[in-house]
Amino acid sequence: MNDKTAIIYSSVDGQTLKICNILKDKLIQGNPNIELFSIEDFKEDVTNYDKLIIGASIRYGVHNKNIIDFINTHKIHLDSIKTAFFSVNLVARKPEKNKPNTNPYVIKFFKTIDWTPTMVEVFAGKLDYKKYSFFDRSMIQFIMWMTKGPTNINTVIEYTNWGKVKKFGIQLGNM
Ligand SMILES: Cc1cc2nc3c(=O)[nH]c(=O)nc-3n(C[C@H](O)[C@H](O)[C@H](O)COP(=O)(O)O)c2cc1C
Repeated sequence: MNDKTAIIYSSVDGQTLKICNILKDKLIQGNPNIELFSIEDFKEDVTNYDKLIIGASIRYGVHNKNIIDFINTHKIHLDSIKTAFFSVNLVARKPEKNKPNTNPYVIKFFKTIDWTPTMVEVFAGKLDYKKYSFFDRSMIQFIMWMTKGPTNINTVIEYTNWGKVKKFGIQLGNM
């Protein structure tokens, strides 16, 4: 069925957007009726959509407040349609923390929000120290040191498992 579908994302350095583009490419193979918006640009009437996919990255332990506000504002409609949520963070690079029920940010998120999407997923993000401000770089280095990750400022690692992203895209199509 060609459900009218929106993918809404929050991305600061582009990794969540990159994941959304792969999901869109997968979904579009079965349904051309897919639109992609950043949370800041989404001005549509949410009740026009039959399916909503929301993706957000973690910064300093939390997802973007605009995403949380959006979910709370539209909860009644979200509860009446098919929905999915995915989180992008660096802790998910660890195999023991890369599932919705083992990733601390996803667990905490669903403890603090009154919403149960149809599907939930979590993806590891990208580490690129050179892109960060001095303050952010120092903080991420500290987080990485704490979690036994790379601390060299020349490090650029895309931890995202693209096979997992594509698989999720297929599952979203069947949702
Ligand atoms: C300033 C900053 C803070 C971050 N805080 C966290 C964090 O608390 N926990 C974590 O696992 N990842 C953290 N990350 C990693 C991001 O979630 C990861 O780089 C992700 O790929 C960013 O996605 P985006 O480019 O779509 O925003 C942080 C990254 C930055 C730049």
